[in-house]
Amino acid sequence: MPEKKDLFELSILAKGKYADLLVKREDYKNLVTFAQNKTEPIYNWFYYKEGFSGDLVWNLLKELEIPKKSGILDPFCGTGNTLLACQQAGYNAIGFDILPLGVFVSNTKLQCDYDMELLKEKIKEISSLKFGETHLKWPDLKFIDIKQAFSRYARNDILFFKEKILEIEDEKIRNFIFLALLSIVGQASNTKKDGGVIRIVRKQHLAPVRYLLRNKLKRMYRDLKRVNPKNGDISAEALQGDARSLDLEPESINACITSPPYLNFVDYTKLYGLELALIVNNSKEIEELRKRSLRSHIGAKYEFHDGLKSEKLDEITGKIENSPVVVWGYFEDMYMSLEGIYKALKPNGTAALVVGNACLPNLTVDVDLILAEISEQIGFNAKAIWVANARWCDVHGMWRSYAPTRVREALPLGHIVKERPVRESIVILEK
Ligand SMILES: C[S@@+](CC[C@H](N)C(=O)[O-])C[C@H]1O[C@@H](n2cnc3c(N)ncnc32)[C@H](O)[C@@H]1O
Repeated sequence: MPEKKDLFELSILAKGKYADLLVKREDYKNLVTFAQNKTEPIYNWFYYKEGFSGDLVWNLLKELEIPKKSGILDPFCGTGNTLLACQQAGYNAIGFDILPLGVFVSNTKLQCDYDMELLKEKIKEISSLKFGETHLKWPDLKFIDIKQAFSRYARNDILFFKEKILEIEDEKIRNFIFLALLSIVGQASNTKKDGGVIRIVRKQHLAPVRYLLRNKLKRMYRDLKRVNPKNGDISAEALQGDARSLDLEPESINACITSPPYLNFVDYTKLYGLELALIVNNSKEIEELRKRSLRSHIGAKYEFHDGLKSEKLDEITGKIENSPVVVWGYFEDMYMSLEGIYKALKPNGTAALVVGNACLPNLTVDVDLILAEISEQIGFNAKAIWVANARWCDVHGMWRSYAPTRVREALPLGHIVKERPVRESIVILEK
């Protein structure tokens, strides 16, 4: 097997029309992940492994020469890192996410002009509450047993604090403190987000909810003191919405910076199910959100969309034995999303899409190349594909853990394929 250092080189050796667009951009390697955000004030308020860094957005804005005060769109805004980076750098920004969790986290990270005295007082009040009973209940999530996910104390404490936080009148302060609660749910639980799935694990030493909450609030408060976010004349917000049917004025946006779900079978409604359960009213709502999310996993509802044509996709779907529906559905959804982005962009507007190629047992799906092809069909000019990262295709580790049982069972035992490089790229498009 070639040395690790050859991986990048190997990943751009593909030939063909769109493969000619591949450019090695190792300088973006650490920026397409959440890693940098872990130590960045405000960005680190909620750990979203699938998120990217603020630096990525700043670099793109600079390199793509997007003028200040322009309008930037992120149709898959997740926890709002594009929006926050834009707000901080003096750009107007609008984002959409199908999950109310992402929308809430984004908008709370974007809040400015706090009444710091009142905030301090409320944090103190919440942090010093004595334990009491609560009327709230956890919804029955079906895919994870709440009784196993939390100790009895943690289960009650979380709901108790939620009830008290929701009584806070000042909306900004209520959101701030509720975000702190959401962000410690994972730590307070007997669960682990393992790659793309959530698993029950027995943890030896679980810190009490009130302790985790108090510490998180302290750190968040310190961030605000340091950053002191002010609104100015910039507008930045997230709305709940579907990237496949964007509600935007035609030609109203200067640029789009986004990262759609990767074609890796991660179901966000399960992965962040515990946090979502504190935001939505019942498990039915979560099931509805699952069906309406992008078809990057099998829980999303299949709806045929006429119009998608792709030679590359035709070429590969014949080779996919087990899951052509998800792969085809993913690109249909991306086609619809790209159509919406195209309409919303001003003439000559730019789109930068951070995507990951998919590693299947018998082939690699070059999502970056297929999206470049599809986008040209819509009217875009595919300008470049910056390869930010490359890893070995590890069917055993990746595909096996996300794939549905019947697909896993169809794989021969011990089927480990590591000879193919899989890219993570930024596809640059121009209208
Ligand atoms: C890769 S994450 C984006 C992360 C984001 N860049 C960040 O830094 O937090 C993809 C997001 O797409 C959202 N999503 C899934 N289906 C969607 C849809 N149909 N419309 C809009 N957003 C969707 C998921 O909820 C998830 O938050």
